[in-house]
Amino acid sequence: RNRLKLGIFGFGCVGTGLYKVLEETGSVEANIKKICIKHANKPRPIDAKYFTTHKDDLLNDPEINVIVELIDDAEAAFEIVSEAMRKGKDVVSANKKMIAEHLPELLELEKKYQVSFLYEASVCASIPIIRNLEEYYDNDLLTSVSGIFNGSTNYILTQMIDDNIPYPEALKEAQNKGFAETDPTLDVEGIDPKYKLCIILFHAFGLSTKPENIFNFGISRINDFDLNFATQRNYAIKLIASCKKNGNEISGLVAPSFIENKDPLAYVKYEYNGVVLESAFSENQLMIGKGAGDKPTGSAVLSDISALTYGYRYENKKYLHVDPSLKLESTGKYR
Ligand code: HSE
Repeated sequence: RNRLKLGIFGFGCVGTGLYKVLEETGSVEANIKKICIKHANKPRPIDAKYFTTHKDDLLNDPEINVIVELIDDAEAAFEIVSEAMRKGKDVVSANKKMIAEHLPELLELEKKYQVSFLYEASVCASIPIIRNLEEYYDNDLLTSVSGIFNGSTNYILTQMIDDNIPYPEALKEAQNKGFAETDPTLDVEGIDPKYKLCIILFHAFGLSTKPENIFNFGISRINDFDLNFATQRNYAIKLIASCKKNGNEISGLVAPSFIENKDPLAYVKYEYNGVVLESAFSENQLMIGKGAGDKPTGSAVLSDISALTYGYRYENKKYLHVDPSLKLESTGKYR
């Protein structure tokens, strides 16, 4: 296959991160052809000729064979990604909200138009959890997936407990470092990790569910009593996303937890994420890596682009099917 020609939507934190890692590695057989942005006049590290504000300049360019979608707005992203697939282009996306809300439809489009839709960067950034989950589904029965799925809140909690920095200041720092979402409520109320949990539920167990069906409780109401309780006992506080399979019942939840010193997740600090997998034969496994930030996320996007260059196609995806017999235990509607 010839060098890929990329059309990138969005040039914020992840877009610039992708640009940096693509430049620095130099070994991935892909070139940026055009980048679609909202505001034309911002200073940027690449020649202005690469930029456009018209999405059709990318979608209608027959030379562009991969659309890389890195924008904020999930509904606009869904339109772009669907249209790109209808036009026969492969798609790489980091948009957890869009994927959590539309995964079955996106996979239908992928199959119908025989293109590849990859989204490794959407869950826990640099941790290659999506493709790793493929390796378990049939070989070894997964029973639970849990851990720290949000870098901003882990950064804030580490600052509050280890460094004695007050919540508003720690939040500002997470924003300045480019870890937080444009609307940081999504991070601090546990909504962002819930999107990631939905994607995990699909890949780990074949459960298709919407984010509103899963309970989330954030970190914004952690108070001095909680902090003192944790410091006195040498506990960490972590925002934990978890899902568990018991027969055909699945539970899913995002909430802060006290974590004992002996638990390896206690040592996952700042913007790092940690995923704990439990399965019948391998028992416990832990993956740790940066869960937010320009280059760690850009590198996960690049891993998808690179996978396309070495021939990873939609038909190589294993075991990705919905199991209709599964039931989500938690009931009710949550934001
Ligand atoms: N705001 C997200 C986080 C970015 O802090 O984890 C990566 O998904």
